[in-house]
Amino acid sequence: MILAVRVIIYTGKGGVGKTSVAAATALAAAQRGLKTVVMSTDAAHSLGDCLGVELGDVPKQVAENLAAVEINSYRELELNWGAVREHIARLVALQGLDEVLADEIAVLPGMDELFSLARIKDLAASYDLVVVDAASSGETLRLLALPQTLSWTVKLLRRARAIVKPFAAIAGPLEDYLAPEEVFEALDEMLTKLRSLKSLLGDTVSTSVRLVLNPEKVVIQESKRTLTYLSLYGLLVDAVIVNRVLSKEAGYLDGWRLRQNSYVDEISHSFAPLPVLKAPFYPSEVVGLESLEQLARDIFAETDPAALLHRARVIEFRKEGGEYLLCMCLPMLCKEHLRIRSTGSELILQLDNQRRIISLPPAMAGYRPTRARFCDNVLEVKFTKSN
Ligand SMILES: Nc1ncnc2c1ncn2[C@@H]1O[C@H](COP(=O)(O)OP(=O)(O)OP(=O)(O)O)[C@@H](O)[C@H]1O
Ligand SMILES: [Mg+2]
Repeated sequence: MILAVRVIIYTGKGGVGKTSVAAATALAAAQRGLKTVVMSTDAAHSLGDCLGVELGDVPKQVAENLAAVEINSYRELELNWGAVREHIARLVALQGLDEVLADEIAVLPGMDELFSLARIKDLAASYDLVVVDAASSGETLRLLALPQTLSWTVKLLRRARAIVKPFAAIAGPLEDYLAPEEVFEALDEMLTKLRSLKSLLGDTVSTSVRLVLNPEKVVIQESKRTLTYLSLYGLLVDAVIVNRVLSKEAGYLDGWRLRQNSYVDEISHSFAPLPVLKAPFYPSEVVGLESLEQLARDIFAETDPAALLHRARVIEFRKEGGEYLLCMCLPMLCKEHLRIRSTGSELILQLDNQRRIISLPPAMAGYRPTRARFCDNVLEVKFTKSN
C-alpha cells in the first residue's frame, strides 16, 4: 500500500545534532512546497529552542507550510497506558511494595516515547511530510521492539486469566490479581494503535530513518549498531548525516580536522551503499530559521530533502523449489552474535540484547529453518517442510 504521507525519522547518539537536522530538513521541504510538520518525541524537548519559538502539544505554524509540535509524552502515556499502569501498580502494591515504586515499575522505560511516536499516525492525515526528531538511538530501538513483546505478554495474560478465573469464585483474594476487562480493552486498543504505527514505520515506500552522527569513534560505533538494529526491526535507513565536520581552515583545531577526515572516510566506507551527507561545524549554535536554512543547504544542496535517498531490501520471503527463503538485509551484522530459532509461526533473531520476532506467513506453517547463511550483508534463512 502506498501512503500519501512521507515520514522521516532522525535518530542518533545524544547531542549529535538530531533536532537541528530534523528542523532543517522540515524547513527545506516546506520551502519546496510540502505541507510539513516536525515533531519532537524526545521528552527533553529542544525543538522550540532550535526554531526560536515556544511550542506545545498541538502543531503550531512556524513558517509557510511548516508546523512544529513537541509531544507531551506523559499525556500520551496516561492516555494509552493509564488503565494498565493502574492495574500493574495494584498488583505490585499487593506484594507489599511502596506505592510510588509500584507506579514506577508499572511503566517500561521508553514507553512514553513509544506512545509519542504513535502520534505520527494522527499527523499523517493532515500533512504531506512528518519529520520526527526522535530520542537518541538506544531509546528508539527499545521502543520498536515493544509492540512485539507486548502482544506476546497480552496473549499470556489472557490465557492466564482464562485458567485462573474459575478458581477466583472459590478463593476470593485471587480476584484481586485478575485484570479487569477494561485493562484488556485498553491493551487491545493500544496494540491496534501500535500495530498500525509499526506498519507505517515498516512501510519502506513512505518511511525512512536517517542516522545523524559526528565524525568521532564512539559515535560511529554506536551508529553502526543502530543501523543493524533498525534493519533488524524492518525499518529502512535511507541516509547518514555527518554533522559538525570541520572545514579547511580549522585553525588550532587542525589536528582534530585531520582525524575527522579519516573518520569521514571510515563512515563512507562502513555505511556504503547508503548516501553520506555532511554538514560543517558552524562557529555558533544552529538556532532560528536562517541558520536552519543554511544547515539544510549545506546538507542537501540541490537534493530534495524529502526524497527517499536509498531503497534497500529489508526483508523478503521467497519460495524456491519447495523451500522458503527469508532474506534480510542486515548491514554490519556480526554473525557470531546472532542466534536464530523458530517457534513454528515465528522466527526469533536474537542479537546481543535485542530481539526481533518475525511473524512467518501462514503458508509456512509446517516449515522449519534448516540453514542460515550471511553473505553481502544479507541474512538468508532457508525453511524446509518438516516431516
Ligand atoms: N553543525 C553544527 N555546528 C555548530 N553547532 C551545532 C551544529 N549542529 C548542532 N549544533 C548545536 O549543537 C547543540 C546540540 O544540537 P541538537 O540539539 O540538534 O542535538 P541533538 O542530537 O538533538 O541533542 P539531544 O540528544 O540532546 O536531543 C545545539 O546547541 C545546536 O545548535
Ligand atoms: Mg534533540
